[in-house]
Amino acid sequence: MTSTPSRDQLRETAIERLTAADVDAPRLAAEVVLAHALEITRTQLLAGPAGPLTPDQLARAQHDLDRLVNGEPLAYVVGHKEFYDVDLLTDARALIPRPETECLIEHALKVFADRPAPLIADVGTGCGAIAVTLATHLPQAKVIATDLSPEAIELARANAQRLDVAARLDFRVGSLLEPITETLDLLTANLPYIDDKDWPYLARTIRGHEPKMAFIGGPDGLDLVRGLLRDAPRVVRPGSLILLEIGAYHGDFVTEIAQQNFPHARVEIKPDYAGLDRLAVIEI
Ligand SMILES: C[S@@+](CC[C@H](N)C(=O)[O-])C[C@H]1O[C@@H](n2cnc3c(N)ncnc32)[C@H](O)[C@@H]1O
Repeated sequence: MTSTPSRDQLRETAIERLTAADVDAPRLAAEVVLAHALEITRTQLLAGPAGPLTPDQLARAQHDLDRLVNGEPLAYVVGHKEFYDVDLLTDARALIPRPETECLIEHALKVFADRPAPLIADVGTGCGAIAVTLATHLPQAKVIATDLSPEAIELARANAQRLDVAARLDFRVGSLLEPITETLDLLTANLPYIDDKDWPYLARTIRGHEPKMAFIGGPDGLDLVRGLLRDAPRVVRPGSLILLEIGAYHGDFVTEIAQQNFPHARVEIKPDYAGLDRLAVIEI
């Protein structure tokens, strides 16, 4: 009869497997995924007694490692991801929130922290990263969260319930601003902005597992931003703010599109922490 490996042995073989499979940061990924499978923290994994695993624990760990080796993103395997200061449920129904989107959150919170009862809409909410995070920080705000994908909206709703803000969120399925008739104080959107032709070059963890509709923005990546800003005059008023996460090479184009639709607005493009154009600030 063969005995199950110890935690240490499993950790070592997991690192070897993930390294061979070209998984990003294989040591970290191995430790995070094993801790998840064993239902302990990473610190407990590293510090705890290195005794043999139960057959159930081993089966769970092997299953999760197989998923990583097959190119599934770590956030889908463990089922959650930290974003700004919240922990969000993540799965294949929606894009995994990215750290560069936190620039938009910071800007919004600076402007709206002291505003009484702002009405906010987040278009293309995905797992609800922007909508839910803003709602947790702005207890006086109401937030409409929309997406073309009903599956993404289900996940966003689960995140709102988990973070206890669901009562102030209004989820709607539809394209761009179609589901919105109200006049907004803040409109946020991180819409798909990858050129169609760049899709084949994205990482396999993205192409094989994240929803394509969360990335593809037409021949120049700007179709959705164009559509949104064309219709946006209907849902904002002087004094409203529009914050858009944009592609790193889209700053000049987005400025031009914003000025066409809002000739009197102040438009500014702000860089992310990597110094790349990332946030369009449109003050109406
Ligand atoms: C880049 S993801 C952003 C997700 C989330 N807001 C975030 O920042 O992590 C873009 C989202 O836009 C949604 N989407 C794509 N086309 C859309 C459309 N025409 N109208 C509304 N949402 C759309 C996708 O389903 C996806 O959830």
